[in-house]
Amino acid sequence: MAGTFITFEGIDGSGKSTQLRLLANFLRSEGGEVLVTREPGGTSVGLRLRAALLDALEQVDPLTELLVFAADRAQHVRRVLRPALEAGQTVLSDRYADATKAYQGAGRGFSAELVSEIIQLATEGLTPDLTLLFDLSVTESSARTRRRSEGKQTGDRLDSEDAGFHTRVREAYLSLAAREPERFRVVTTNGSVDETHERVKEIVVPFLEARGQIVSREPATAGSRDTHRVPQRESHAGLEEPP
Ligand code: TYD
Repeated sequence: MAGTFITFEGIDGSGKSTQLRLLANFLRSEGGEVLVTREPGGTSVGLRLRAALLDALEQVDPLTELLVFAADRAQHVRRVLRPALEAGQTVLSDRYADATKAYQGAGRGFSAELVSEIIQLATEGLTPDLTLLFDLSVTESSARTRRRSEGKQTGDRLDSEDAGFHTRVREAYLSLAAREPERFRVVTTNGSVDETHERVKEIVVPFLEARGQIVSREPATAGSRDTHRVPQRESHAGLEEPP
């Protein structure tokens, strides 16, 4: 496909959403055509599914949860991701299918075979070109999600799972990364937001350069990368507007 599909994964509170925004701003400042999206909730139907899935007051059966994440993804792949990638855009998605392997597979205990079949059905094999896994300890993750939900009456339904659940999710992500080292890059998030952003750029800029989507003006030196973007095709006019 003409575009580049980059996904952001990690346990809750890993800072991936902030990093996604910073990267999108950076790539746009270089003239890149970037689509920012997320799962669940990357389409208008998906937004309604997201509200139901994450409502802490709902009692969602694990099988329902697995299937609704898949339904959200099917809509997202067909209505947003494929058209954008076919139009040559760089797509940054806050979570995608690896989240189902980690949360519903390792977290809830559905078999890897069933999870893979359902992912295949929803995605028709659409796999990210690059996946950034933002890693941090479960203790730090819990502290961050607690701070974030202070002041709110209830947090997300999945945020409030116990430490054992989040440990299984983290370990599953790390083993997915070990199994597919070409697609995954693990980003440690122990530094400041800016330091992590630099790490992300050090991964993504050469990756896009290698695909001919960004060209360096000068040889890259650490901390002073100077890039510009090869003009891309105009975005697909008929895209569903992501929320
Ligand atoms: P997200 O919006 O990334 O929340 P946060 O900003 O707190 O990380 O994701 C919402 C929740 O949905 C998160 O707890 C992970 C969960 N999730 C799954 O369990 N399975 C999935 O397939 C996806 C996409 C998300």
